[in-house]
Amino acid sequence: PVLVVDFGAQYAQLIARRVREAQVYSEVVPHTAAVAEMLEKDPLAIVLSGGPSSVYSEGAPAVDPALFEAGVPVFGICYGFQAMAQALGGTVEHTGAREFGRTDLASDGGVLHTDLPAKHPVWMSHGDSVTAAPPGFAVTASSSGAPVAGFEDTTRRFAGVQYHPEVAHSPHGQEVLRRFLHEVAGIRPQWTIASIVEEQVAKIREQIGDGRAICGLSGGVDSAVAAALVQRAIGDRLTCVFVDHGLLRAGERGQVERDFVSATGVNLVTIDARERFLAALDGVTDPEHKRKIIGREFIRVFEQAERDLKAQGDYRFLVQGTLYPDVVESGGGTGAANIKSHHNVGGLPDDLQFELVEPLRELFKDEVRRVGLELGLPETIVHRQPFPGPGLGIRIIGAVTAERLEILRAADSIAREELTAAGLDRDIWQCPVVLLADVHSVGVQGDFRTYGHPVVLRPVSSEDAMTADWTRLPYDVLERISTRITNEVSEVNRVVLDVTSKPPGTIEWE
Ligand code: XMP
Repeated sequence: PVLVVDFGAQYAQLIARRVREAQVYSEVVPHTAAVAEMLEKDPLAIVLSGGPSSVYSEGAPAVDPALFEAGVPVFGICYGFQAMAQALGGTVEHTGAREFGRTDLASDGGVLHTDLPAKHPVWMSHGDSVTAAPPGFAVTASSSGAPVAGFEDTTRRFAGVQYHPEVAHSPHGQEVLRRFLHEVAGIRPQWTIASIVEEQVAKIREQIGDGRAICGLSGGVDSAVAAALVQRAIGDRLTCVFVDHGLLRAGERGQVERDFVSATGVNLVTIDARERFLAALDGVTDPEHKRKIIGREFIRVFEQAERDLKAQGDYRFLVQGTLYPDVVESGGGTGAANIKSHHNVGGLPDDLQFELVEPLRELFKDEVRRVGLELGLPETIVHRQPFPGPGLGIRIIGAVTAERLEILRAADSIAREELTAAGLDRDIWQCPVVLLADVHSVGVQGDFRTYGHPVVLRPVSSEDAMTADWTRLPYDVLERISTRITNEVSEVNRVVLDVTSKPPGTIEWE
């Protein structure tokens, strides 16, 4: 792999994704990893990421000079660029010329910057600057605040840039990174979707042998793609289990039963647990309490399904759609505050006696989607917007009842229909519709007074759901949704728009 050394900024994963866009497999490692540990992975190159520190500040993560003696190509970015300059005998100074954001780069020649416009914009974020490149390096880029903004030593296969080539605000950044990987480091681009599928299928076959596996489907992209990969590997020795907890949106169960099965021909067991979930949620209004109940009931139903299946054969393996960012983040291990107890359908307890099969552990979300398409899954599954495991249960503010679920399902399906018809599905991250079931307001319809419930539209734009902004939907689309919901869903007499970003709001209301 290419190793991306994480110096603690948020850019390391993004860099890893960009490296893969250049068709080279990459992994993120913490800067605390010893050089020997990194070299054990036989890296084709090492990329030093940006970081929040100044190379001068106390405790600033340094780069072990041994890294540069191993004959491995190295590319430094931002902080990594400065740390590299310092380790190899260049000069880094606190010049007072800080640059943050869009900056003009003047570049000439070299491998990385050749043929690019003589002046082009890049994204900078630095307080210190490299004022002299280390011996042996050619300086090929500069900006007004960074006399040395790019350097390279193609003999030793070292290079670096002060700016952030990985962000979209550096329009030539991907090309610069690609040139480093392919032309300076000499790596052959081989990480393609076809190769990922082939490699994962081989790994799954090796792990499962002639055993059997079970996979909980949520209707979401990750579990669907994981299941499709495993199915490609072991055929009908995979059985998928879909739990209908009654908190699904209109058409969802049918979509899994129809679209997924027709694309894959997989064995699917659907369990109707609607009564059971409703009974368990009876009278419960507290969001965390709802989440815990839904999580617990889900596990019980799944365990029962597992026992039933066991009678037919030995299902020793459990397929999960764990993604690479989850793997990196759980390795990073900072104790984030528990804002909400996420219940991930498929997030089953360890004491279920299974060996885990996680074929997406090395993949980013966009790669997962492409793998899904490669395996013949329909767009409706592959580009599905996120939907929380606890479903509509956490979009009814108040107690969950069958009647309230019907109301919300009707309103939600109108909103989704109109957003799809307006061609907005790929522009928004998701648009929860929330029923304020304990709130009434007065309205008038025809000549009659109504006393109905409001629903909230919560359209959001986001990259990763960690932060989000409310989406500026066109007024005419909002109008159509509002008119249709209030006309067609008799219990709803008001439609309101949530214009809160995250933070301070979360995406879901509960
Ligand atoms: P919040 O509300 O925390 O949501 O801003 C962030 C993203 O996560 C989804 N979400 C969940 N997904 N199980 C899931 O699988 C859950 O319990 C859960 N709760 C929230 C939410 O829809 C949004 O995309």
